[in-house]
Amino acid sequence: MILLDKLYEWLDVRINAREVVARELTGYLLPRNINAWYSLGSVLLFIFALQVVSGILLLIYYVPDADKAFTSVATIMNQVPFGWLIRMCHAVGSNMMVLVLLLHMLSVLFMGSYKRPRELNWLTGFILLSLVQAISLTGYLLPWSQLSYWATTVATNSVGAIPVIGQFLVEFLRGGKQVGPHTLGRFFALHVALIPAGIAALIGVHLFLLKRTGISSPPFGRSDTSNHWTGESYHYEKHPGGIPFFPNYLLEDLRSISLYLAFFLAVVFFNPYVFFPSAAFVPANPYLTPAHIKPEWYFLANYQTLKIFPSEIIGLAVQGLAMTFLALLPFIDRGAERHPLKRPVFMTCTVLGLLLWIGLSIWGHYS
Ligand code: HEM
Repeated sequence: MILLDKLYEWLDVRINAREVVARELTGYLLPRNINAWYSLGSVLLFIFALQVVSGILLLIYYVPDADKAFTSVATIMNQVPFGWLIRMCHAVGSNMMVLVLLLHMLSVLFMGSYKRPRELNWLTGFILLSLVQAISLTGYLLPWSQLSYWATTVATNSVGAIPVIGQFLVEFLRGGKQVGPHTLGRFFALHVALIPAGIAALIGVHLFLLKRTGISSPPFGRSDTSNHWTGESYHYEKHPGGIPFFPNYLLEDLRSISLYLAFFLAVVFFNPYVFFPSAAFVPANPYLTPAHIKPEWYFLANYQTLKIFPSEIIGLAVQGLAMTFLALLPFIDRGAERHPLKRPVFMTCTVLGLLLWIGLSIWGHYS
């Protein structure tokens, strides 16, 4: 403790650390009626950090070569001490990241925090969602199993339905006419370098924007600030008399992270194979198409939509329109009201949209 005090003193003399702590931690005030949904962003930060650490550890033994990738993953699972644990944490963690991301997005939707002045928070979040989907898709190929090979073949095939440039894009992604060693090289580079760097940079922008607007007051309970800010000039949402971020809200964040960890480790230890269909245990064979190849659970609705329509291009266009609508939501839904029960049209559309997504996913799973 004395050593820490001395270090703090040493830093304070050099960089005025006390002022930074007072401004960014103890003096950074959050609304008094803040709830646990606001800690999902910190849970996401924690998951991303865990994915980076487990991914780096996997890189020590993984070989990105079509002839060796499957065996190298088998070696990690069966021979490297605790290799199975690291791999399971990484594979289960990628699914959890999408799950928590969707919950974070839903909480932002229901509490109306995407509304003015937080349009940019929403847009950067939306790009983060796309990048997280892309990192999952590219990671799926790396074990070079039957599942990896054929799921990637199906996913890249659907890009071919785009008029004019579709076929070019498919070959660009694959590095040839078929999924093969060149696809593995490309997806590996995207998965371990380009996309993680993009996600890290965007998280930085997302948090910077959050600091510039100030965190929103939840539309429930006794609010300390007005939820109806519609002014024209820049306005930082202060919360006078609010809860200090450190130590108070950090403890709430840590409680949510601990609950998440308990759930995550329960899946890792007791049922990690819930995310692994049987084709994940067979090496890739380009000459043998397995009977039932399905994408991961969060792509099932997209997969089923492509199957419903008579032509793939209509399926792609419908999905493109739905995604564009979601991305531009803060510019379409411009009313100031944020309480979900006072926004009946929004609530009805969101709940119906959610049910449609779940219904399509279940249909995709059993089709
Ligand atoms: C890797 C992904 C993400 C990370 C690490 C992240 C992190 C965070 C953090 C730490 C906060 C502040 C606390 C909170 O409200 O939870 C936040 C707020 C916010 N996030 Fe995210 N987020 C991510 C993805 C998304 C996505 C996908 C969306 C929506 C499309 C989104 C929209 C927002 C909005 C609008 C806020 C402002 C909330 C407010 O001020 O009340 N974020 N995010």
